[in-house]
Amino acid sequence: MAAAGTDSTSGYDRTKGIKEFDQSKYGVKGLIDSGIESIPRIFVQPPETLATLKPCQSQTNATDIPVIDLQNINSEPHRPKIVEQIKKAANEWGFFQVINHGIPGTVLEETIQAVKSFHEQPAETKAKYYSREEMKGMLYASNNDIYRSKAATWHDYLQVWTAPEEQRAKVEDIPEIVRKESVEWDVCAKKVAEDVMELLCEGIGLEPSKFKDLSLSGSRMFVGVYYPYCPQPDLTLGLTSHTDPGVITVLLQNQLPGLQVKHGEDWVDVKPLPGALTINIADLMQIISNGEYNSVQHRVRANSCKEPRISVVEFLNIGKWQDCEYGPLPELVSAEKPPRYRRFTKDDFFHNFFSKGLDTKSFIDKLKL
Ligand code: OGA
Ligand code: NI
Repeated sequence: MAAAGTDSTSGYDRTKGIKEFDQSKYGVKGLIDSGIESIPRIFVQPPETLATLKPCQSQTNATDIPVIDLQNINSEPHRPKIVEQIKKAANEWGFFQVINHGIPGTVLEETIQAVKSFHEQPAETKAKYYSREEMKGMLYASNNDIYRSKAATWHDYLQVWTAPEEQRAKVEDIPEIVRKESVEWDVCAKKVAEDVMELLCEGIGLEPSKFKDLSLSGSRMFVGVYYPYCPQPDLTLGLTSHTDPGVITVLLQNQLPGLQVKHGEDWVDVKPLPGALTINIADLMQIISNGEYNSVQHRVRANSCKEPRISVVEFLNIGKWQDCEYGPLPELVSAEKPPRYRRFTKDDFFHNFFSKGLDTKSFIDKLKL
């Protein structure tokens, strides 16, 4: 049966429920503003997911995801240590937080506030941006995989392509309420991502500029996610479990918990740290690094606080595909370390992304040798 089909045992028409929600263009924020006290059925997760939401899932919460201090990144005694920390974190966790990354606290706050303000505009104002055309320069919607997933999750999002030139939103098409901030944040997040990519290169013996030269930060998307209060947080998620499809992701969030990372069998909370950014390895980085760095499952719990949780997610991806194929870098492949993944093209990548729900089989699994 299709993920979004009719449940023949109860007569419940899931497709209809989804369509009504989607066509209202109100998003999850609109549902909460209408005063609902229980969540519509389209958001209720299947039992196997609900079973993982029980408290005390992660006994190992004593171990937190690594926090890496980027201060003194360019000074000789510190840099090799930072490289080692990043290498270990990217291998063992696929996730780490960075502090002293060089972006002023005021910029972090303004960016979060602008995303919050966008989502808190009247429903009619936001409705004109609501779209399912994912390659559009700029759009707002709820649940990008709503027609492909088993259950919807409790968030809305604003998406702005910021690069490459032929893909990005025209600055004047970005809603004014978040225009200056999204443009500025793209510059800041790209800088941090490129600093981290250099460290990642050094960690596996590549030229520091290798990832940048391969244009691994050449395609970028700014996503401002809004997780409103959820009246039944034990029945749904904020964002379903997934790995990020691109190369690397930089995440800024306000101080509300919710993000969890899979580590072994456990879901480990990413504890918000004032001024920090969270960085994670995405699928293409795992493939290109021939598995030296790992793209790890993560999800967001539904927000049980009255205050909204806000995250600003900058996705970095390959910018120059042309007729290229990408795959494990030859420098990282040897008789002892044979390639672990097949090579792939732009079409392979996009076809995989648009043909599945977020939480289904990843691109990595399909390319495994
Ligand atoms: C994502 C993601 C986490 C968050 O958008 O891919 O993992 O905290 N977001 O919003
Ligand atoms: Ni993600």
